[in-house]
Amino acid sequence: NKVVLAYSGGLDTSVVVPWLRENYGCDVVCFTADLGQGASELEGLEEKAKASGASQLVVKDLKEEFVRDYVFPCLRAGAIYERKYLLGTAIARPVIAKAMVDIANEVGADAVSHGCTGKGNDQVRFELSFFALNPKLNVVAPWREWDITGREDAIEYAKKHDVPVPVTKKSIYSRDRNLWHITHEGDVLEDPANEPKKDMYMLTVDPEDAPNEPEYVEIGFELGIPVSLNGKRLSPGNLVAELNEIGGRHGIGRVDLVEDRIVGMKSRGVYETPGGTILFTAARDLETLTLDRETLQLKDSLALKYAELVYAGRWFDPLRESMDSFMEKISQTTTGSVSLKLYKGSASVTGRKSPYSLYREDISSFESGEIYNHADAVGFIKLYGLPMRIRAMMEQGI
Ligand code: ARG
Ligand code: SIN
Repeated sequence: NKVVLAYSGGLDTSVVVPWLRENYGCDVVCFTADLGQGASELEGLEEKAKASGASQLVVKDLKEEFVRDYVFPCLRAGAIYERKYLLGTAIARPVIAKAMVDIANEVGADAVSHGCTGKGNDQVRFELSFFALNPKLNVVAPWREWDITGREDAIEYAKKHDVPVPVTKKSIYSRDRNLWHITHEGDVLEDPANEPKKDMYMLTVDPEDAPNEPEYVEIGFELGIPVSLNGKRLSPGNLVAELNEIGGRHGIGRVDLVEDRIVGMKSRGVYETPGGTILFTAARDLETLTLDRETLQLKDSLALKYAELVYAGRWFDPLRESMDSFMEKISQTTTGSVSLKLYKGSASVTGRKSPYSLYREDISSFESGEIYNHADAVGFIKLYGLPMRIRAMMEQGI
């Protein structure tokens, strides 16, 4: 029998390989998704995987698919978890899981495995995706089964099994990086009262050190999806990559958050989502031209639920898919462009336009026009205020 393992090359997944062989007697096929985590994480992976005892390593570049089919729908929906989190780790798990299920099918594996701990969100996200896509696959989660309890233990286990311990020195933070964001957890962050250290950040400069000159960007949208940057059409992956560069040098998109994990506990993490923050700011602003009050309210209320589903790993739930049908329909006119000024950590909108704009200067301006007649307001106010007037009459015995 064969198992497909979600593999990163770090110590945590490296020890899983010999453990699966020893305890399940199976052939281990490692899988790594290139989601834009950076060249240093992908270098020499094949040799590493084989040295750990894997029969093969499959690497797939899923960057475009990730942004186009997962990240941008979240953006169109306006999905933000617990007021701040742009879901960069949560939304990457279903992409990886789907590729693993496909590979399991191709290589004839009957099981899948991951190196997530039993305390976190990622185990839930992987396993719900596996359930939804192939309910027949067995799932092995070594970190919930074995008696290896920490890093020292894991190193010892690796040595005993002749697995080269990854030489890259282990950072004190637990991190997860892809094209959309990076997250930092652990060390001094574990006390929510502590300020993050300046040298922790990886994608953004400290706003205090950002250029003294602001920079303008213009984002073009079609149907609620970003399609261009400063007038240049770009693929989803390239658009986010370029915007990360720009946003990063102005210190945009740092978030420090205490959040509720799916498994019940709170955890504190810091996120850097430079390009994503600019895109969210722009998308929301364009909607102020193209959607009306009631539509915005309903869309925002559904966005909360949408974000919760994504956070909880329920991407392949028909509920999320149905909500996307709504989001697609409601975003039919979210086409246009938004200009923003980036300056020392802030991205402020300076202008927006859309061929579907509901804003009419001829009606909104103070000049009297034909469509809006001041006299019409008299009756409107009387009827609109009638309930308040009647209540006051009752209270005052009139
Ligand atoms: N708290 C974030 C989330 O649940 C980040 C998790 C980071 N995961 C990791 N394997 N380091 O989405
Ligand atoms: C883990 O526990 O494997 C990472 C953290 C998380 O899933 O939230």
